Amino acid sequence: MTDSARLRAADLTLEEKASLTSGADFWNLKSIERLGVPSIMVTDGPHGLRKQAGSSDHLGLADSIPATCFPPAVGLGSAWDPELAERVGVALGVESAIEDVAVILGPGINIKRSPLCGRNFEYVSEDPIVAGSIGAGLVKGIQSQGVGSSLKHFAANNQETDRMRVSADVDPRPLREIYLRGFERVVTDAQPWTVMCSYNRINGVYASEDPWLLTQVLRDEWGFEGLVVSDWGAVNDRVTGLAAGMDLEMPSSNGRTDAELIAAVRDGSLAESVLDTGAQRVLDLIAKAQARPAVTGPLDVEAHHALAREAAGRAIVLLRNEGGILPLAPADRVAVIGEFARTPRYQGAGSSQINPTRLDTALDAIRAVSPAAPFAAGFTLDGSGDAAALRDEAVELARAAEKVVLFLGVPQQEESEGFDRTHIDLPAAQLALVDAVRAVNENIVVVLSNGGVVALPFAETVPAILEGWLLGQAGGSATADVLYGAVNPSAKLTETIPLSLQDTPAFGNFPGEHGHVRYGEGLLVGYRWYDERGLQVAYPFGHGLSYTTFGYDAATATVDAAGDVRATVTVTNTGTVAGREIVQAYTSLPGSSVQRPPRELKAFASVALEPGETAVVELQLRRHELAYWDVRIDDWAVEPGTYVIEIGASSRDLRVRTELTLDGDPVSLPITLDSSFEELLADPVVGAELQAEIDAAFGPAGDEMMNLLGNAPVGRLDGFPMPREQLLALVQRAQRGA
Ligand code: BGC
Repeated sequence: MTDSARLRAADLTLEEKASLTSGADFWNLKSIERLGVPSIMVTDGPHGLRKQAGSSDHLGLADSIPATCFPPAVGLGSAWDPELAERVGVALGVESAIEDVAVILGPGINIKRSPLCGRNFEYVSEDPIVAGSIGAGLVKGIQSQGVGSSLKHFAANNQETDRMRVSADVDPRPLREIYLRGFERVVTDAQPWTVMCSYNRINGVYASEDPWLLTQVLRDEWGFEGLVVSDWGAVNDRVTGLAAGMDLEMPSSNGRTDAELIAAVRDGSLAESVLDTGAQRVLDLIAKAQARPAVTGPLDVEAHHALAREAAGRAIVLLRNEGGILPLAPADRVAVIGEFARTPRYQGAGSSQINPTRLDTALDAIRAVSPAAPFAAGFTLDGSGDAAALRDEAVELARAAEKVVLFLGVPQQEESEGFDRTHIDLPAAQLALVDAVRAVNENIVVVLSNGGVVALPFAETVPAILEGWLLGQAGGSATADVLYGAVNPSAKLTETIPLSLQDTPAFGNFPGEHGHVRYGEGLLVGYRWYDERGLQVAYPFGHGLSYTTFGYDAATATVDAAGDVRATVTVTNTGTVAGREIVQAYTSLPGSSVQRPPRELKAFASVALEPGETAVVELQLRRHELAYWDVRIDDWAVEPGTYVIEIGASSRDLRVRTELTLDGDPVSLPITLDSSFEELLADPVVGAELQAEIDAAFGPAGDEMMNLLGNAPVGRLDGFPMPREQLLALVQRAQRGA
């Protein structure tokens, strides 16, 4: 580009502008040779670079060049560490820059509404603060390298079933407080270069055609400055989409929709200024990409693999460790059982599939410490073979061993982008294997590989469980690091592990039917649901053990100059090894006038402590995130009152609490004849007068009368408690405020 920064959309012809706002092919934008505007490449994402070698196939699923496969979001998120996410983001940016990729298509931060969503492995959490914080870390890291990110899939894309058409029917409060809150955090904290709008409709309107979503909320309210790109194939009507704020269609529509745009401008149904805006955003994106200093390879494969290993070690959740069976000692005679030890399941299937530079297996890594460890597959990943014979072979190894490390998980073909799961059970052959092994050796350490949550019917019967999720290319080594204590586990669950699918919040409302999915659980997503219902769970949100223990003491909370809440808590490593604790702060507001879950996460922090070391951990609870969405004023409002702040090691292991009284945001509701007697009584100008009239008319019976009629609209009952003319005058004075 001659000087893209100064190039204005007005310098382009109508045809050039239409052309620029749609892709050249699957991964590249169009160039404009006349003006020296180059073509730039955008490509997946999100946990590694998926740049296809040579010409791309139509679906974009062909093999890609080798790149570091970091832990997918399900794993990386479990570290609860935005700084770690940022370091991974830096590495993603470096790999993209070396390959001259302008934008990497991630992160994905959609809420895990149901454990059945086929793409949960690509998403971070059932909680928006966790999802938004990790997403912001990734975006900052990627963009620090002069490479753009694409925050996706905006919005309410929480299932794969009928994903290109389904309408997510969501009420305003859950939409704002759960499904958009994480996106808001990433946009306001990290300003992604691009946002990718999702395939689905929201309350009947395609995300790619929704001016409320793409312009009012994203730009006007949150201050987004970048470009909106469609998910691949999400454009239903490009003219409508462009007017709504969808700037760039991907992939190419081979000129078809360019012609539609041109025709719409010519016949006056689309203002050319709208096209100018979209084209300008594309020009600006290209200019930003061009401004990146040239980076030459080669990629430091070893360094990035080491980071992938560190991140994977931080992603493994120690769910259970009875009797201190873990960590293992090198001298322990362990038997390694389960095909996943030899054939790792380390990422999910679909558009995020990376071609890793290396692949570690847990079996090799365990044998590097305990060379004599025997191995039996125990089952096959595709269910083929003689299950009984495989099981018997594993049982014989288990019988002769001191301890068994048993790798279980969800085979790749059972979870992928493009479809949802129908159950959360491990394959029957694996569950039978657990029983058979336990009959001969109870010292079992289960290691799980799964993108979505699985039910754990054996949880109480085995002494240890490591939830390994999907850990990327170095997951095998990281698993051995944790098993043998080279890494002390510190990860925590970003999603609840339920006892059964039937207990889950969206059960009965997922995946919907006939083009609609009703978000019937409302605000009660994830732990909010289990807590409100008082349901037992297998492992709660926020749970994760360590090889050490932590003590909590002395919670405080104050309001800082910006109006945010600063909480502090003293955390001590009370065990004998160094460790890291994820400190979580939850709030509630007893007596709230609106529905609220029993507690909601508002802040968290990760602190590393030597044995015996104490630290004062500070947590920032943003005032804006204490607000609820008030549908009466169509705006956020912090309710006044005394908030309870509970701080602890999980949503169900709260160790200390404090309280803080906050002023509320002014919420002024206009008084009309439709206001209730209670609302008019609360009015500062005329309330007392109305009360006096009621007292005069009914005496002591007035209170009883108000129990009965307090919520009736004042305009509805002529002559009560005063002549209508007098009541009208009262309402008008309330409206005037004098
Ligand atoms: C996915 C996106 C992805 C795009 C390009 C779509 O099907 O939903 O996440 O970035 O394809 O591969």
